[in-house]
Order: sequence, then C-alpha cells, then structure tokens
Amino acid sequence: MDLHAMDRYIKSLIKEAGHKIRNSFLSDISIESKSDANDLVTNIDKEIEQFFISRINRDFPGHRIFGEEGFGDRIEDQNGVIWLLDPIDGTMNFVHQKRNFAISLGIYEDGVGKLGYIYDVVNDDLYHGVQGGGAYYNDERLRPLGITTIEESILAMNATWAVPNRHFDHNGTLKLIQDVRGIRSYGSAALELAYLASGRIDAYISMRLSPWDIAGGMVIAREVGAIATNFRGEPGNLLEQDTFLVANPSIHSRILKDYIRQK
Ligand code: IPD
Ligand code: CA
Ligand code: CA
Ligand code: CA
Repeated sequence: MDLHAMDRYIKSLIKEAGHKIRNSFLSDISIESKSDANDLVTNIDKEIEQFFISRINRDFPGHRIFGEEGFGDRIEDQNGVIWLLDPIDGTMNFVHQKRNFAISLGIYEDGVGKLGYIYDVVNDDLYHGVQGGGAYYNDERLRPLGITTIEESILAMNATWAVPNRHFDHNGTLKLIQDVRGIRSYGSAALELAYLASGRIDAYISMRLSPWDIAGGMVIAREVGAIATNFRGEPGNLLEQDTFLVANPSIHSRILKDYIRQK
C-alpha cells in the first residue's frame, strides 16, 4: 500500500462526504430508530456509507468494508485490507444539535492500523494518523502525550454509564468520577478519541463500542503514545462490540486496575 497516495485520496473523499452532510442541513432528513427509541439512524447515515462504498469498490477492488449501517461486507476475520467506517458517529448529535458528530474511518491491513481519520464535519477539522508517520490536527502535528495523574485528568464518558453496572459498582464509578479533575461527555466516541489524541482530555471510557467507532481513532491515538484496550487490557476489538478504554499512557493501567471491577 502506498500510504501517501492513499492518504491524499482519502482526505479528498472525506471532504466530499462532509460537503454532502453539510448540504443535508438544507433539506428534510428522515429519522428512524434501530435497537431502541434512542438509537437513531437517518437517510444521511445510509447515503454517506453507500457513497464511500461505491468509491472504494470502484477504486480499490479487493479491499473490504466494515460499516455501521451494513452496506459493506460481512467481516469475520482481519485478513487483507479492511476499511472500517462510521459514516456519522454521533447520530443523536447530528439529529438534535447539528454539530458534535464526525466521520470516522480506519484502514487496516492484516489487523494492523495503517491510516486513521476523524472528520469533525461542521468545524471542518480533520484529525488523521499514519502508521509510523505521526498524528495531525488539520496540518499541525500532534505532540506525544505528556505525563499526568488521575487527579489532574479530564475523563470523557457517556453519562448513562454512571449508574451502577456490572463493570463498575456504585462506589467504583463514583470514586473514579470523584478522583479525576473533571468529566466530559461529547456524545461521539470518534471525537472523544480525537480529543484524547490532541491532549484535550486524558481518558475516554465506554462499556460498549463497535469496531467502526474506534478503528480510525486508534491509529491516531497510537501515534501520540495513547494506549487503547478493552477492560481486560487486550487491544481494541476490531471484530465485535466490546468494552473500551483509551488513555494517556501514565494513567491507563491504573484505571483498569483500581476502578474497573468486572473485566
Ligand atoms: C455512538 C456514539 C456515542 C457512543 C455510542 C455509539 P453512533 O455512535 O459514538 O457517543 O456512546 O456507543 O454507538 O451510533 O452515533 O454512530
Ligand atoms: Ca448508530
Ligand atoms: Ca458510532
Ligand atoms: Ca454511526
């Protein structure tokens, strides 16, 4: 794979998709629910996924696509080149706020992250990472994450996880919330990964994410030294839903060890 040529191609593809999403604000969108009343999907999520798939199939026959809305391939192994795509990460924000959502894309070869992209569509901010070539916020190179402590950290999590659950007992959740400096909840896993990589938050934790939520962000985060695993400390899961913790390297193992009960 020529990473530089692919990078140029993907950036222009993502910008074109972003343009389509911004244009959709001018017309009515149709909104449906998936697994429950709050799990939303729109015609734009589907159209953007299909747009990527038609281009990838045309220009990279032989590559496979793992997308949230199911128009791509059925993926059960990591062989070859796989594009992991979330056409809109943060659909609830897209519907309700018209901001705070992103396109998330990761390109993996035989399970190794090669390229990662998170595009904040409304702000026209592109985060990207190239294996061994660094991570970038637009054209600015992101610096390696500095040393920090739990007590000085800002942690991002979805507020619904703050109720007792099998991973955290009530005291564990409360203790983590009390011990960190602050908690934020942005409603887009991809943006939360981008903020982690750019040093705006120090950890992001979720009880359940899918491969397309984390694939792009993990490539970017790795380039600045962040550690991304499930709650058992294994690498982020690219085949199925799993728990997820991405953090500054100085606090990752302490969060796993001192706060999480059931791995
Ligand atoms: C969701 C967002 C949200 C996270 C959910 C994801 P979607 O993705 O990333 O922040 O808490 O677990 O499913 O459905 O908007 O693409
Ligand atoms: Ca969704
Ligand atoms: Ca998502
Ligand atoms: Ca989505």
